[in-house]
Amino acid sequence: MEQDRRQSGTYRFNSISFYLNGKARSLDLPPGITTLDLLTKQLHLYGTKCSCNEGDCGACTVVIAYPDEDNIVYKAINSCLYPAAKLHGKHLITIEGLGTPQNLHPIQKELLEYHGTQCGYCTPGFVMSLFALFASITHPDHESIMAALEGNLCRCTGYQSISQAAAELSQKHDPASIVPDFCRRVEPKLFNFKQKAGEIERTSSSRYLIEHYLQPENLDELKAQLAKHPDAKLIAGGTDIMVQVNIQRQNFSQLIDLGEIAELKQIKRQGDGIHIGAAVTYSQVMDSDIIKHDLPSLVKLCRLIASTQIRNFGTLAGNIANASPIGDSLPLLLVYQTKLLLSSQQEERIIELQDFFWAYRETALSAAEFIREIIIPLPPQDAFIKTLKTAKRKSVDISSLASACRINPDGKAMLALGGIAATPVLSKVFTREFSPSADWAALAKKVAAEFSPLSDVRGSAAYRTQMIINHILQYREAYHG
Ligand SMILES: Cc1cc2nc3c(=O)[nH]c(=O)nc-3n(C[C@H](O)[C@H](O)[C@H](O)COP(=O)(O)OP(=O)(O)OC[C@H]3O[C@@H](n4cnc5c(N)ncnc54)[C@H](O)[C@@H]3O)c2cc1C
Ligand code: FES
Ligand code: FES
Repeated sequence: MEQDRRQSGTYRFNSISFYLNGKARSLDLPPGITTLDLLTKQLHLYGTKCSCNEGDCGACTVVIAYPDEDNIVYKAINSCLYPAAKLHGKHLITIEGLGTPQNLHPIQKELLEYHGTQCGYCTPGFVMSLFALFASITHPDHESIMAALEGNLCRCTGYQSISQAAAELSQKHDPASIVPDFCRRVEPKLFNFKQKAGEIERTSSSRYLIEHYLQPENLDELKAQLAKHPDAKLIAGGTDIMVQVNIQRQNFSQLIDLGEIAELKQIKRQGDGIHIGAAVTYSQVMDSDIIKHDLPSLVKLCRLIASTQIRNFGTLAGNIANASPIGDSLPLLLVYQTKLLLSSQQEERIIELQDFFWAYRETALSAAEFIREIIIPLPPQDAFIKTLKTAKRKSVDISSLASACRINPDGKAMLALGGIAATPVLSKVFTREFSPSADWAALAKKVAAEFSPLSDVRGSAAYRTQMIINHILQYREAYHG
């Protein structure tokens, strides 16, 4: 019955306008279709590859260009998770736009020169990641190259030749040869893009997991849409939601996208601390001069999350609202004594982050309410604040234990842990028993005894207990310098 209804239902399509490899396009899209499916299934462009369909391999990497203040930025993203509706007003650059077999792009030439490709399946993804890097940094160093490539997997070539090709290119390339002319021609048009994405209704015989995809343009529209559809699911970047759609085949009758609302993309310093809007991505946090200056530990933490591609559209607010006990930002945000500004059409309220998590993936958010801002009070200048993540791989891996420690100059201390309980938690023992002259090893054992971690694929209970001790001992080393 349900299936019959959906196979012949009326769907709200998204009508979007964007640029694809230099050419203006206007399309009516099935609701929630990913950029990868748009490219391969609707536009029959097969250069962008699909392998995992969940953000892990980078084979589907494409680049989006859009205005960020006075600049046009070029960002690599995983097209398998990026809803195509988000392309409205942006420039999508795919491998088809960079070079031809007769006239290779400088990145492709260098990969060829250094034997940086074998079967070639991963290669378009690597080329696009490097394109975003070289379009943003003229002569990237080794660290930037490795960071740009951490979200790309290759099962046959080996990373040595690929990174060597990138290093060589960084030394010798002509910066003007990286960004094609068609990109430069489109750039001014992106600044002037005013047209609103439209929604149209159409009877469809197709079956979609997402039936309605709404894109409010501003906060008032967002509140009104949520008030009208209180059961709708919010989407910011989509790096959690779209995995549920692609892999778990989860159905969402209504997604409301707050990730493109300009008012939610701001980072501001105010009297009560740093305000981070709900649509601010990890990359924006890492690039923000305010955050670099006032909350340097947050920049270091973001660097440990996912990959460059995911960080380019995943948000800090999404990590909080997702309320996973292994959300990597949560321990640090807890010791920062973060508050959340929650908003709905009826009211605005501020809540302490530690009161936000009620139970496993259960939060204080009520229907039609959303996180509007993350507010981080400025810690004292000499406070010791550090965060650690234990995972099997350096990048693109979920942690088995994440923690954060804060010791104020007056000796008041906090330790937060993720991955050991149904929600991220603060240790009462650590706060009660810490003193600058404490026996850290004995305290570490007491803190470990305070919790009963679960065993799962990421680590046994005994392993996690040992990790709690190890993290605290690492904080001791860092604290005593
Ligand atoms: C390959 C890969 C690697 C990853 N690696 C890591 C990692 O290392 N560490 C880690 O912690 N996470 C990781 N993640 C998970 C994910 O990227 C993060 O949780 C991210 O912060 C989610 O943000 P988003 O904007 O994409 O959220 P979305 O997917 O858009 O939303 C996530 C949830 O939050 C809700 N939501 C979003 N915004 C709001 C809001 N403003 N108000 C109320 N509800 C809201 C949505 O309804 C949804 O339930 C990874 C994901 C992938 C695919
Ligand atoms: S297909 Fe693997 S990251 Fe998209
Ligand atoms: S060249 Fe085969 S997967 Fe990379």
